[in-house]
Parts: sequence; structure tokens; C-alpha cells
Amino acid sequence: MSKELPPVEIHMILAQILQKSREYVLAHPDLRLTEAQKSRFERLKKRRKNHEPMAYILGHKEFYGLDFKVNKNTLIPRPETELLVEEILKLKPKDKNIIDIGTGSGNIIISLAKNIKNNNTFWGVDISPKALSVARYNAKKNKAEKRIKFIKSDLLNFILKSKNHKLKTKELIIVANLPYLSQKIYSSAMPDVKNYEPKSALLSGPDGLNHYKKLLRQIRSLKKSYPALDVSCYMEISPEQKTILEKIIKNLFLSSKMEFKKDLARKWRLAIMKT
Ligand SMILES: C[S@@+](CC[C@H](N)C(=O)[O-])C[C@H]1O[C@@H](n2cnc3c(N)ncnc32)[C@H](O)[C@@H]1O
Repeated sequence: MSKELPPVEIHMILAQILQKSREYVLAHPDLRLTEAQKSRFERLKKRRKNHEPMAYILGHKEFYGLDFKVNKNTLIPRPETELLVEEILKLKPKDKNIIDIGTGSGNIIISLAKNIKNNNTFWGVDISPKALSVARYNAKKNKAEKRIKFIKSDLLNFILKSKNHKLKTKELIIVANLPYLSQKIYSSAMPDVKNYEPKSALLSGPDGLNHYKKLLRQIRSLKKSYPALDVSCYMEISPEQKTILEKIIKNLFLSSKMEFKKDLARKWRLAIMKT
């Protein structure tokens, strides 16, 4: 508990307290704190020593060059998720429905809306109202609120079960970073993750695939309601899920196309299914 934090974390905390940049802190090694600032410094250091992630202590996290508010109701955006954004940007989508399922802080859909100038319908969906309120805040903060509809729904139920939301175009792009940790991987996660980030954003049944299995079954039902609809589904996965997901997709969609991509650490990270 008494072990000192690494200098980079001390500098980040000081920058937060002083509302200055880390560069400012580094350039002013002799800066003095007021008594109130000193006690806040001690409080924040203690939180970090208790393994609370730095992003929760600071209240924000950078993703795809944008700044996002995060709190205990939202997963902290991970750098590997930028791969999902990159893949959708490569499509240069125009006049499409783009739905981010499990939007959390809104990091994926907001990054897409900010980087795609063409006309598309952007949706951010989450089952958690508390996460959605952070996503709406982030859309405003990044000046993207007019382009994105945020909806509370269990995966695609808002289209499947409600008459209020209709797909206006023939092409649907689904981008999903849903919970995908297996019970085994979740149990061995670092305390920073397990003790602080929402379990409902991470764990998905024994093999980590409960959410993706349900989503894929929903896509199959959607195809029955909209037979002419082309669906592309981009899913962030855990590397060991590639083989089993391949089988699930083959069973559900006889004539679909499938592709898997690796992240920068050369681990399978992305499953792409096109109906
Ligand atoms: C792994 S987090 C991803 C958050 C964010 N997209 C990101 O990339 O950092 C998964 C998100 O899915 C949401 N979620 C879990 N079950 C869901 C469901 N059945 N329908 C919609 N969203 C769900 C969680 O609330 C959480 O915000």
C-alpha cells in the first residue's frame, strides 16, 4: 500500500488537480500545491494504489484521437477497439444504417460519426441507461449529438420488437464490442478490471459468447422481416473464440461470408460476418 506510484501516474494526477497538461507539470518541478490540493492529491493517489484505473480517477479517456468521459457505469475504451473503427471507415459508408451495439461511453459510434462525412443513420444502443447517459454526454462534448440516435435496447430488440424504429435503407452495418469474456478469463482478470469496471460490460457466460450468439440469432430473425436487407456485422472478440464462432456463424447463416482479423499484438480480435 505504501509503494509509490510510477512518476507518469503522479504527473497525470497532478495535471488533473491543477487542470493543466502533463507537459506543464513536467516543466514546473518546483510547483507548490495549496492545502486543499495536497489533500486531494493524497486522496487520488490512495485510489490509484487501491488499483482503481487511472481513467476513472481522471474521469476521461482518449480513444481514436477524441476525449471521452468515463465513469464506473462504462467500460474504459481500449486501444485494440480502434481496429473496429478503422475497418468501418475503410468501407466509406454512404446512406447506410450503422448500429453500434453495446455503445458504452459511445466511443465507437462517436468516432465513426466524426470521421464519416457521408450521410448515414448512426445509432448507439446499450441496455444500460447509465451508460447511455454518458454516451449522450460524450456525443455533445464531441459535437456529434445531431448525427447519432441513442437507444436503450437489449441488442437489436428495438428494431425487431418495436414499430417505432424502422430501417430506412437496404444495408445495415452492425459494429459490436459486446461483453465477451469467458468465466475463466474474467476470474483471472487484473484487480483494476475486476474490482472496478462493470461486470455487465465484460462477462458473457461460460465461453464468453452468450451476447454474440444472441445477436447473431437476432440478425437471422431480422433477415426474415427484411429479406432484402444486407447485413455486415463486425464483432470484437477474444482470440480463442475464433474457431467456435466460425462454427456458430456457419450453422446460422448457410451462405454468409466470414473474415477474421488480428490486432496489433497479432491476436485474433475481429470477426466479420456478411449475409
Ligand atoms: C465491452 S463494453 C463496450 C463499451 C464500448 N463500446 C467500448 O468499446 O468501450 C459492452 C457494452 O455492452 C452493453 N451491453 C451488455 N449487454 C447488452 C445487451 N444485451 N444489449 C445492449 N447492450 C448491452 C454494456 O452495458 C456495455 O456498455
